[in-house]
Amino acid sequence: MEATDYETRLKELEKSVRILKKKLERSEADRLQLEKASEIREFTLKNVIQELEESQLSLEKRSQELETALINLKTLQVKLIESEKMSALGVLVAGIAHEINNPVSFIYGNLDHAKNYFDDLIRLLNLYQQHYPEPIAAIQKEIKVIELEFIKEDSEKLFQSMNMGAERICQIVKSLRTFSRLDEAEFKQVNIHDGIDSTLVILNNRLKPTSKNYKGIQIIRDYGNLPLVYCSPGQLNQVFINIIVNAIDALEEKNKQQIDNNNQESEPSQIHIQTEVINNEWALVRIADNALGMNEKVRSQLFDPFFTTKDIGKGTGLGLSITYQIIVELHSGKLECVSTLGTGTEFVIQIPILQKFCPKNTNA
Ligand SMILES: Nc1ncnc2c1ncn2[C@@H]1O[C@H](COP(=O)(O)OP(=O)(O)OP(=O)(O)O)[C@@H](O)[C@H]1O
Ligand SMILES: [Mg+2]
Repeated sequence: MEATDYETRLKELEKSVRILKKKLERSEADRLQLEKASEIREFTLKNVIQELEESQLSLEKRSQELETALINLKTLQVKLIESEKMSALGVLVAGIAHEINNPVSFIYGNLDHAKNYFDDLIRLLNLYQQHYPEPIAAIQKEIKVIELEFIKEDSEKLFQSMNMGAERICQIVKSLRTFSRLDEAEFKQVNIHDGIDSTLVILNNRLKPTSKNYKGIQIIRDYGNLPLVYCSPGQLNQVFINIIVNAIDALEEKNKQQIDNNNQESEPSQIHIQTEVINNEWALVRIADNALGMNEKVRSQLFDPFFTTKDIGKGTGLGLSITYQIIVELHSGKLECVSTLGTGTEFVIQIPILQKFCPKNTNA
């Protein structure tokens, strides 16, 4: 090859090297640009992911807040329904107690006078009989017709039973009044046994035998030496009534099942109420029945609002959720249920004898 050919070839090569260099420079620039763009994209993506994560977290938080708000609303609704129900019941009971109280006071107050007048008349009659032992035939006949001797004998028993009846009505009126202290949301030092007793008087009708198949329910009181307890008496009575009514319902259900299966009542239906003081600090009330108990699934839902196993119209499922609120929230106490299927159920109520905010000397 000649020298000129080499030169041209060299020039061509130099040119192509230049072109290649330029291409390389451009592609390097492109690469840098692409890298930058992908960095920006990556950064944006990371930001988006972070924002998404944050918004997911805030959504979760929001939904938790909503859930809590819903639970609070449900609790409030339950409280409102029950407090309305109970205050209406309280007003009704107080009204009835008041209406009965007046007429029964007339009877009770006048019974002693009536007995004295009657005794006076009988004494006068005896005096007549002593001085005029042979009255005229018409009087003798009348004495036989009215069975005077029987009247004299029976009058004592008659007045005694009228007295007992009137005393019983007075006691019921007193219990109705104790029970209707529902407006007394304020705390006082009270005798818890009085609250339990008045609840039992009110429920007496459901404890009595109703037929030869249903022998009624025995109440066994095993009261300890409780001091006055600082509590809200109206609300506490509501607790006793809710738990005792449930026990009565359960015992009636057991009896019904026994009759359906043609079984004899195996053991007497009983509600055992026991009280004691624990560590000088707590008043403990146990209310136990020997009905059919409940399974673990029912037991775990007992205190849930609206949970009921009773027929529609019979139970609202509010009794025990209200009871729980009254004991645990209002009185800072404890409420437990122990139950064995087929054997019975026991509710254990524990409330502090004194509350943290308890002022001194606030006897009811
Ligand atoms: N002593 C008990 N023995 C057996 N089951 C019971 C007893 N006490 C409560 N239960 C069960 O717990 C459920 C919830 O009781 P809760 O008092 O809250 O509602 P309820 O009695 O059904 O209705 P209500 O609102 O009228 O009281 C009852 O339906 C029943 O299944
Ligand atoms: Mg109930």
